[in-house]
Amino acid sequence: MNEHKPLTGRARPDRSPHTLEEWRKLGGYAAVERGLKALSPEQVLDMVDDANLNGRGGAGFPAAKKWRFMPKPGQSPGDGPSYFIVNGDEMEPGAFKDRILLEAVPHQLIEGAILAAYATHSSEIIVLIRDAYRDAIANVTRAIAEAEAAGYLGRNVLGSGFDVKMWVHPSAGRYIVGEETALIEALEGKRAVPRKRPPFPAQSGLWGRPTTVNNVETVSCVSHIVANGAQWFRALSRTEEGGTKVFGVSGRVNRPGIIEAPMGTPAGELIEQAGGVSGTGVLRCFQPGGGASGFLEPDALDVPLDFGNVAKAGSMFGTGTMIVLDQSACPLAVIARHMAFYARESCGWCTPCRDGLPWVAQIMMRLERGEGRMEDLDVLRETVAIAGPRGRTFCDLMGGAMAPLGSGLARFGDLFEAHVREGCCPIAREYGRSAA
Ligand SMILES: Cc1cc2nc3c(=O)[nH]c(=O)nc-3n(C[C@H](O)[C@H](O)[C@H](O)COP(=O)(O)O)c2cc1C
Ligand code: SF4
Repeated sequence: MNEHKPLTGRARPDRSPHTLEEWRKLGGYAAVERGLKALSPEQVLDMVDDANLNGRGGAGFPAAKKWRFMPKPGQSPGDGPSYFIVNGDEMEPGAFKDRILLEAVPHQLIEGAILAAYATHSSEIIVLIRDAYRDAIANVTRAIAEAEAAGYLGRNVLGSGFDVKMWVHPSAGRYIVGEETALIEALEGKRAVPRKRPPFPAQSGLWGRPTTVNNVETVSCVSHIVANGAQWFRALSRTEEGGTKVFGVSGRVNRPGIIEAPMGTPAGELIEQAGGVSGTGVLRCFQPGGGASGFLEPDALDVPLDFGNVAKAGSMFGTGTMIVLDQSACPLAVIARHMAFYARESCGWCTPCRDGLPWVAQIMMRLERGEGRMEDLDVLRETVAIAGPRGRTFCDLMGGAMAPLGSGLARFGDLFEAHVREGCCPIAREYGRSAA
């Protein structure tokens, strides 16, 4: 195994998955054997805690802290299973990291999910996968069947007394299904809208039972922690936050794609590894954490990319999938595309998001066409102030959408005004092509 790339080091370049036998030859399932035979659920949980594994699905919430909310056997209210759900919905603009982990290394995910279910006293694992990820759905489904046949899933796994079932559920293909409580609603066959909290999923989740939801990448880290120890995992990182990160780099770079690197790797190094800035070769700005993160500029190229440091720099690490704009790319055009996406994906549950986002998207398109008015900028600023802060809407879709808009207005206010004054995109005029 490539120790510096534990998550992607064993993936084949063509992303074809390993059979169970091939995976075992690469050291696969040793962590499951160790975890279930030699460690108690609490010891697995303590290892994940010591490893400082933060959730990779967007918010960076510590995995072990979330797992500790789950009731221990005998403490769970009523009868029935507890659920562990792996979130593979992945529709954030710019994000394509989970796809690789699902398609190319499905046994790694299954190993992590078995250990996570063991630590959270869950007896059923559901992997929700974006419907468009057809190969991922097929590969994970096949790998589950192999693991079941080999006795890693099912009753009394490896003679440990632990029973666990696992299956795949394709998502219907809406961005909101990735929000964990909307995901639970969708699995129950209802309209995918977020639930009120409390109660939190660990208290009352799927079918009212204790439930934990974690991202594909988060779960994929777990077998490595159990196999190699918490200190090993922490030492992979360049900052306090443990592990490597499957970063994504897209937009104006020469080799867009996935790069697994130590947590805390600065953006400048990742852009270099992605072949450097394309187009003019000169960086204008970047979104460090996917479509719902605020813009940073070249003075932030040295910021270590992790949840804490990116927040201090004024943006959000989110999915850790960077979108790069060179000098010939117009941030307004990018924001307009993002707003159209978030407006389309609003679940419609609350008014500022359902009605506000289409309005914002229309204004942005108008500005981009050079048909905007100065008052439009006031409306945009007011919308960011009203609907941007956390808690103003039922879930974080609206706040996330406001992040690029708010930071765009703050950082590129002159450019917004120039679009109105000049009646066109000054960047497109200067570089003579589409600026998005
Ligand atoms: C609109 C919206 C979409 C989301 N989409 C995803 C997603 O596709 N995958 C994901 O893991 N988390 C997504 N999340 C975050 C989940 O609600 C949840 O926090 C996450 O799955 C927890 O996993 P983690 O603790 O391992 O990060 C989304 C959140 C929101 C508000
Ligand atoms: S913020 Fe938007 S996506 Fe989230 S619940 Fe409200 S309407 Fe739905």
